[in-house]
Amino acid sequence: SLPKNATIIEVGPRDGLQNEGKLVTTENKLQFIAALQDAGVQEMELTSFVSPKWVPQMGDARDIVTQTKKTGRQFVLTPNERGINAALEAGAQSLAVFVGVSNTFNKKNINKTTAESMETLKPLILNLKEQGIFVRACISTAFYCPFEGAVSPEATLDLCRQFVEWGVDELSVADTIGMANPKESYELFTKLIEAFPDVLITAHFHDTRRMALANILASLQAGVTRFDASAGGLGGCPFAPGATGNVATEDVVNMLHRMGIDTGIDENLLCQAIEKIEPHVTNPVATGM
Ligand code: HMG
Ligand code: MG
Repeated sequence: SLPKNATIIEVGPRDGLQNEGKLVTTENKLQFIAALQDAGVQEMELTSFVSPKWVPQMGDARDIVTQTKKTGRQFVLTPNERGINAALEAGAQSLAVFVGVSNTFNKKNINKTTAESMETLKPLILNLKEQGIFVRACISTAFYCPFEGAVSPEATLDLCRQFVEWGVDELSVADTIGMANPKESYELFTKLIEAFPDVLITAHFHDTRRMALANILASLQAGVTRFDASAGGLGGCPFAPGATGNVATEDVVNMLHRMGIDTGIDENLLCQAIEKIEPHVTNPVATGM
């Protein structure tokens, strides 16, 4: 049976903008974030503390965190110790670490193999958990890798198991390049929910093949109630060739609401948030509602 409520984790300000070639001003990002908050978004990825050489658009991470009104759960992505320290200094209380299941993607994204990344992350995560920080682990290329092709569910589960042993609060499991189909989504998320009943399980779909909504429905049927989505369907990882935008928040919210599943998000105000960012990006914004 389907749930009565679902949670949207809005990733527009982070995943949505990181691939945008034109620098968006901090002020315009803050207005976008504030409008999303006004629309009822309770969980959001605000930015990432990564190398500005690698992702120039996220160079204002500190200002974004310090100048955003504190409400709900606000994540920042951190790739390494330096990013974690900067995020904590800026006052972040919820951190997202990220790693790819496949080695080649991981090397291109953070310049380390998957095993090297995990070795580096372990003490950092243990330390964050001692400090009571909420830790979300984002698992990239959980279904397909742009360089290596199909990724086995076992490999994804093994990686997730390590994070769970280190005490993470949430696993956000990603179809980085939007290649998964509903059958694969149903099967992987069924296994994840069964294997890790005490951890929040979130589905992160990109919409390259226009299968994201079908994948969300399949994940819902598997028991997932948390979905990453990006207002206007913006997004994509700059280091994953072929990846297009995230599933559009307005599409997910519309589908869930029409199915009687509440998200707490106001559809009209969400539309207004998209209108705030649309003039400042060159990537296409989904036609929306
Ligand atoms: P590196 O070149 O191997 O490491 O990059 P480095 O330590 O030599 O650092 C390079 C430069 O960056 C140095 O500057 C460092 O000081 C600086 P330089 O000495 O050359 O002037 N630096 C930093 N600056 C600010 N904040 C930091 C930081 N660390 C180093 N934290 C590194 C390694 C991890 C830094 C780099 O590869 C990187 O920043 N990668 C980020 C990649 C990224 O942001 N990808 C997108 C997010 S993941 C994603 O989108 C997927 C997801 O949506 C799920 C899905 O869909 O799959 C989450
Ligand atoms: Mg993504």
